[in-house]
Amino acid sequence: MAEPFVPTNIIVTGGCGFIGSNFVHHVARAHPDVHVTVLDKLTYAGNPANLAGLPPERVELVVGDICDEGLLERLAPGHDAIVHFAAESHNDNSIEDPDPFVRTNVEGTYRLLEVCRRYDLRFHHVSTDEVYGDLALDEPRRFRPDDPYRPSSPYSSTKASSDLLVRAWHRTYGVRATISNCSNNYGPYQHVEKFIPRQVTNVLCGVRPKLYGDGKNVRDWIHTEDHSRAVWDILTRGRLGETYLIGADGERSNRDVLAAILERMGQPADAFDWVRDRPGHDRRYAIDPTKLREELGWRPLHTDFAEGLDQTISWYRENEPWWRPVKEKTEARYAVQGQ
Ligand code: NAD
Ligand code: TYD
Repeated sequence: MAEPFVPTNIIVTGGCGFIGSNFVHHVARAHPDVHVTVLDKLTYAGNPANLAGLPPERVELVVGDICDEGLLERLAPGHDAIVHFAAESHNDNSIEDPDPFVRTNVEGTYRLLEVCRRYDLRFHHVSTDEVYGDLALDEPRRFRPDDPYRPSSPYSSTKASSDLLVRAWHRTYGVRATISNCSNNYGPYQHVEKFIPRQVTNVLCGVRPKLYGDGKNVRDWIHTEDHSRAVWDILTRGRLGETYLIGADGERSNRDVLAAILERMGQPADAFDWVRDRPGHDRRYAIDPTKLREELGWRPLHTDFAEGLDQTISWYRENEPWWRPVKEKTEARYAVQGQ
């Protein structure tokens, strides 16, 4: 087993988003010797309030674009790693307008790889299981790290492209890189455009939740805190050039997840609307996390989905000032799409 990598001063891109900010809190809590520079453009999905309460001497926010080469040049010296969460992350948006997805997800990752090459920084690339396409509902197989890439959407194809750049920069230039592909995350601070927070906040607003297609699509849910712990394990103990899949055996149909939300929020089981399906909608995602478990000993701590959902619903109930300002605009955008 190789010596663990011991980071002291890391750049976290996208650290004001849902998962990136959870990772920054995790590092500040569990690894107090590490200094974090968050690099975030503060797009519609980034909110500096997600970093509230963190000690300023250990977590610094730099507002900027990962595509800004000059900024990366100024930022890199003195850092020892980049953990790369920044992305345009929502499938429905990518169908409406793929442009920022190609720019941030592909060009942005390229710029970061180039700066890692010049300054010999360790690079961890946070990606998605969606690069592997989808599975049939009755298929016994789950995604494995060496499966072929078959992305379906503009979002997943730009994430797949960025993964391929990382693989090439490792092999050709020796950039010290790892990749993780995680399943669907849930938990506090997720933007209200995504499935679970959209339905929870709809109910809180007195609006009926919206289910796409026939509701039988399956997603493999993991609590974002378990994702953050896995990213740290891969950054510090993962083998360079390797891909690790992160998943917590959490397969559920959208219909079942919505039923659980309605029940926990005291709504009738049929209090939702069927809406237009997403074009190219992937049927099922499912992760085989054997490599991560066996090589790095990672285990999910949030194994009770009902409990995680209750905690998430409570968070949205108690943090209306966090989501209210963006709710109306998000729903207006969905209304235009017939969703
Ligand atoms: P998010 O949309 O909540 O946050 C993205 C963050 O990146 C925001 O803070 C935004 O301001 C920032 N950003 C966007 N473009 C930028 C740019 N050009 N320069 C600098 N910052 C920029 O996303 P998320 O759900 O937290 O996802 C984080 C990462 O995890 C993404 O790479 C995503 O592909 C991956 N991922 C997400 C999930 C999921 O379920 N949400 C699952 C697997 C993998
Ligand atoms: P989403 O949170 O967008 O994540 P992803 O597309 O990365 O899986 O959607 C999760 C699932 O929920 C997906 O199958 C689409 C579906 N969905 C709905 O049925 N209704 C909604 O309002 C949204 C946003 C998603």
